[in-house]
Amino acid sequence: MAVPAQRAAKEPSSRAANRAQSIGISDLLRLGQGNGVISLAGGVPASEAFPVAALAEAAETILATDPGRVLQYSVAEGYEPLRAWCADWWSLGDRAVVVTAGSQQAIELVLRSVVDEGDLVAITDPGYLGAIQAARLVGARMVGVPSDADGLCVDVLEDLLRKGSRVVAAYVVPNFDNPTGATLSLERRYALAALAETYGFIVLEDDPYSELRWRGDNLPSLATMSDRVVAVRSTSKILAPGLRVGFLAADAKLAAAVARVKQIVDVHTSTFTQQLCFEVVTRPAFLRGHVANLVALYGTRATALVDALRANLGNLSFHEPDGGMFVWGQLDDGDVSSNELLSVAMAEGVAFAPGPAFSVEAGHDNFLRLSFAAAAPEQLADAAARLGRAVRLSAISERVSYRV
Ligand SMILES: Cc1ncc(COP(=O)(O)O)c(C=O)c1O
Repeated sequence: MAVPAQRAAKEPSSRAANRAQSIGISDLLRLGQGNGVISLAGGVPASEAFPVAALAEAAETILATDPGRVLQYSVAEGYEPLRAWCADWWSLGDRAVVVTAGSQQAIELVLRSVVDEGDLVAITDPGYLGAIQAARLVGARMVGVPSDADGLCVDVLEDLLRKGSRVVAAYVVPNFDNPTGATLSLERRYALAALAETYGFIVLEDDPYSELRWRGDNLPSLATMSDRVVAVRSTSKILAPGLRVGFLAADAKLAAAVARVKQIVDVHTSTFTQQLCFEVVTRPAFLRGHVANLVALYGTRATALVDALRANLGNLSFHEPDGGMFVWGQLDDGDVSSNELLSVAMAEGVAFAPGPAFSVEAGHDNFLRLSFAAAAPEQLADAAARLGRAVRLSAISERVSYRV
């Protein structure tokens, strides 16, 4: 009797796995965990500022009053009152809101819904690595658009479009960008919204940091400027990222398409954490007070890091942030690569995110992203001193190897 040929087990190296390769957010979070290393690598909020008491009270209340609902399956779009809160808090007009597992999932679901294999997506370069990886995962071609102190260089994008590049989506973090900390100027916001209208692409406006401003005035969101803007928002930086509650707000057709995809991906965002968020954010006056505390905390930390960098690293150029969680620095000594510096820095007891991790293609070799949100001022001072030593050691070894 013929024995059926055994089917070869499928290799796990599928297209998706290949596309997902390269340094990821988890790698940055793992950098410098333990061993007395002060890590400024992950873009993580201050855990001591999580609103634990408010969340504990809310958890108790919702489990006592409505356990059958808050532990039950729910619809993919999310909890209706939370969706309404989102539209109101971020002034998103009559866009349809979908609650997502953090804004990371919002980015991925929107890209999945609008991008076909090989479509062109424009991304700020350097840019948020989770967005770059999501675009790669859905098979987009990417074009990196540079940014400067005023954020995305919209004129460069316009040039590309004029020359015939057919962009289907442009991704931008308009306030306190990750990694550069830059804020998109008002003029460029209007220009980007106008380009989206003229050339018919969508703008993903990913804005997790606008509330965290300690200097200057907020600018109007891109979502107020064009219906082609899909707003991506998150509770991660104003409550706690472990809740995994984010949002996207788009026209009804796109929101419905996204909800269909979401249903397949994870059915819906946790009913329990959605309800927990809702209870906390709708407590009278709670969120404004909580955010004001975060702003004061991060403003103090940013100043501590900036002062310590100035004292210890004369050869690092950077803009002092007005908000957000990051300092994006460039080493004046072009010979020192941040990837190589990282291992010396780790040996000195400090970790940071190396610039190339945020490149759409390659580059930013002598840049580093330093996150000040999760470290106390004394730790930030120590971290800068250690980094200063690491840079000096790297520069010396660079010169020695050059001479040899
Ligand atoms: C610009 C930007 N977008 C999205 C995210 C993802 O955040 P979450 O999925 O926790 O909302 C982050 C996280 O650091 C970020 O910096």
